[in-house]
Amino acid sequence: RPKVDVTLYDLMEKIAKFYQRKLSSPQGKPAVNYLKKRGLSGEIAKRFAIGYVPGEWRNLESIFPQLKTDKKLQQQLIDCGMLIKKDNSLYDRFRDRIMFPIKDKRGRVIAFGGRIIDQGEPKYLNSPETPIFHKSNELYGLYQARQANRKLERLLIVEGYMDVVALAQFNINNAVATLGTATTESHLQQLFRTTRELVLCFDGDRAGRDAALRALEHGLSQLRDGRDIKLMFLPDGEDPDSMVRKVGKDEFLRQVSESTPLFEFLLKHLASQVDLNSVSGRGQLVHLAKPYLDKITDPIYHEFFSNALADKAQLSVEKLEKIIEQPQQTA
Ligand code: UTP
Ligand code: MN
Ligand code: MN
Ligand code: MN
Ligand code: MN
Repeated sequence: RPKVDVTLYDLMEKIAKFYQRKLSSPQGKPAVNYLKKRGLSGEIAKRFAIGYVPGEWRNLESIFPQLKTDKKLQQQLIDCGMLIKKDNSLYDRFRDRIMFPIKDKRGRVIAFGGRIIDQGEPKYLNSPETPIFHKSNELYGLYQARQANRKLERLLIVEGYMDVVALAQFNINNAVATLGTATTESHLQQLFRTTRELVLCFDGDRAGRDAALRALEHGLSQLRDGRDIKLMFLPDGEDPDSMVRKVGKDEFLRQVSESTPLFEFLLKHLASQVDLNSVSGRGQLVHLAKPYLDKITDPIYHEFFSNALADKAQLSVEKLEKIIEQPQQTA
């Protein structure tokens, strides 16, 4: 990997500070009102260094007065995704948005997510991939979660910036969000360096449920050493932000603690695709489950899952092992 220009971090930090100042200036009033409407306090906004970027096309010129003539600086700001060059003119990528700085594990600002105030498209605009920002590795809120907890027994994986921040507002300080992308193996690897239990708490809609299933598939290969992955299902149309507001902290946490263990969910999900009352249906179940079983490399977890599968398919474990160890038929 090529060496990263470390001054990019300084530029991003400077910009984040500028956005924060703008939020508390008169120009930031509509943004502050919107955040208040969403139930967020100034204290939480500060903890997450939330800011506001005004609607002008060239806000960055007011932080970097030399920008007009300094070609190197121009290129650096293009490189970190903050400036866009089009037909020889330069303008800010982010305008008139509430800005969520994305920090890496060490607390350095590496990217931004910008939310439109109230309605509009796109609702969120995110930094592109840059030399210091690789979406598939980074998680929003991980730095803050580690700051707030000496030991993290469990982490909640949620979909959105607002979910992380709203949970923190309710003093639930262990949520992280993927950044508008699917949960990757690298995300899970990172999170398992910090905690042993992951609870996937995605939006209660089709997209959220599909995303949870794909995340689980990545999780299977990482099961070992007492690690655990669970799923929390939200009612249709809810996300963690709306849910915690509706039911409050205690009830939300109760539901977290009653999340469905991965194997239970997976078997239920697969069983729902077959008819368990028929022999052929139970056979299909085994074949549907095999690719998942194959991803579990840890012998103990492999054993757990085979036992549960045998039980569901009404087979002895010995028989199940025989069936699934058979080489795939190839033409
Ligand atoms: P959601 O649409 O669920 O948004 O997208 P949200 O977090 O609940 O936002 P609010 O409550 O309406 O403010 C979840 C995540 O998907 C990414 C963002 O990371 C967002 O937090 N996303 C969503 C985008 O990148 N762009 C979009 O236009 C929408
Ligand atoms: Mn959604
Ligand atoms: Mn939401
Ligand atoms: Mn949502
Ligand atoms: Mn086996």
